[in-house]
Amino acid sequence: MGRAFVYVILGGGVAAGYAALEFTNRRVSHGELCIISEETVAPYERPALSKGYLLPEAPARLPAFHTCVGANEERLTPKWYKEHGIELVLGTRVISADVRRRTLLTAAGETISYKILIVATGARALKLEEFGVNGSDAENVCYLRDLNDANRLVDVMHSCSGGNAVVIGGGYIGMECAASLVINKINVTMVFPEAQCMPRLFTPKIASFYEDYYKSKGVEFVKGTVLSSFDVDSNGKVVAVNLRDGKRLPVDMVVVGIGIRPNTSLFEGQLTLEKGGIKVNGKMQSSNSSVYAVGDVAAFPVKLFSETRRLEHVDSARKCARHVVAAIMEPEKTGDFDYVPFFYSRIFALSWQFYGDNVGEVVHFGDFSGNTFGAYWVNKGHLVGSFLEGGSKEEYAAIAMVTSLKPAIEDLAELESRGLSYAMAV
Ligand code: FDA
Ligand code: NAD
Repeated sequence: MGRAFVYVILGGGVAAGYAALEFTNRRVSHGELCIISEETVAPYERPALSKGYLLPEAPARLPAFHTCVGANEERLTPKWYKEHGIELVLGTRVISADVRRRTLLTAAGETISYKILIVATGARALKLEEFGVNGSDAENVCYLRDLNDANRLVDVMHSCSGGNAVVIGGGYIGMECAASLVINKINVTMVFPEAQCMPRLFTPKIASFYEDYYKSKGVEFVKGTVLSSFDVDSNGKVVAVNLRDGKRLPVDMVVVGIGIRPNTSLFEGQLTLEKGGIKVNGKMQSSNSSVYAVGDVAAFPVKLFSETRRLEHVDSARKCARHVVAAIMEPEKTGDFDYVPFFYSRIFALSWQFYGDNVGEVVHFGDFSGNTFGAYWVNKGHLVGSFLEGGSKEEYAAIAMVTSLKPAIEDLAELESRGLSYAMAV
């Protein structure tokens, strides 16, 4: 048994939703496009899962955050896909792909063939077992990647209000979930191996601001160590975590955010991989001309830095999804993807944005004891990255613009003294 489509999107996450919208903007014919997703719901804005979804009052629930509301676009409900003649094949895992024959095989045994495939399989959360720690399948240990994980986290959180949580990992999931747990009246201890939170992005000075803010909300930090084992009771619940430095932390629940791995396994040995993802060109086309890749799974050339990068952020998933559809449907009118990396987060009453690259020398500016501060990164004489906490819409637009221009910087001290006004003047 089998079905055939002109275009198939494999994966039903952020990139799939934005690609679907772009296909309809470009008047894809009814019956030509199919989206296959392991998830049982239509594409949604994944960032909501660690923020609005975890709020104690009036939490965000589907259908409110289906794509593409995150970019102030239409909300694509299952009805929308139906009305636009797009086949949504939900709750269906693809278990193998044959790029030579242009076919996908689903776990249900169906073969789906395509003329053009867009791989948008995203990534999976790394498990503690991959670092040699067992027991993370206990009912009160939570990961967070999809809606099922989020529902489980909400249930566990509600069952231990007033209790103690340990958050493993000091990255995005760790920081955002710790904030949500506190808002839900749970006492939080964060444990991570580095000397500071958000080591992939923050400077020590920036990290220290957020750590102090979290401490003021009651969060405790145990840094420079990792988990060595769980203590589990007779019901299979984790009751304490043991750390490699010898500490034992009693817990009612655990949240783990220790990074991700892109879902490339279906294509290993068939497509060229780089930086852990599927290598694509500026049209998001892989080493096989019928296969494109977008989102967390794609390693694409970032023009601004003349380098191939794999980004794990929603803005790049949205924009490269739109670009790939333009490149497929109007190849002669579509140039190479030209993208300035953009990351953001919102925690408690705080909110920051970052553009570009965090390499080179750092110049901090603003009031680190107040509400608005930031940093520029200057590499080889050019401004390549900008961070801002607590900015206005105009200020964020200014740091985005200045970063995209990569201006020459001769005097770091002058940049420091001008601070945000430097970006505002560009
Ligand atoms: P995404 O993960 O969205 O979708 C992949 C889809 O493929 C899923 O539906 C999956 O089930 C499906 N799939 C995979 N393999 C399959 C198979 N074999 N068969 C069928 N289906 C398959 N970023 C940011 O910039 N700001 C933010 O605030 C946040 N917040 C945030 C919170 C949380 C909880 C997470 C987990 C992530 C974020 N992110 C973020 C990151 C952002 O959500 C992420 O970069 C995008 O979702 C990537 O979009 P993709 O479409 O590439 O993958
Ligand atoms: P991450 O890469 O941001 O952070 C991983 C963290 O895990 C590291 O900072 C480190 O502290 C910790 N770590 C690594 N190995 C460890 C170990 N053995 N034991 C304990 N800690 C260890 O990954 P994440 O926080 O898991 O986030 C997952 C994905 O979701 C990422 O792609 C991220 O970009 C995305 N996300 C993004 C946002 C955002 O952009 N605002 C929000 C949530 C999630």
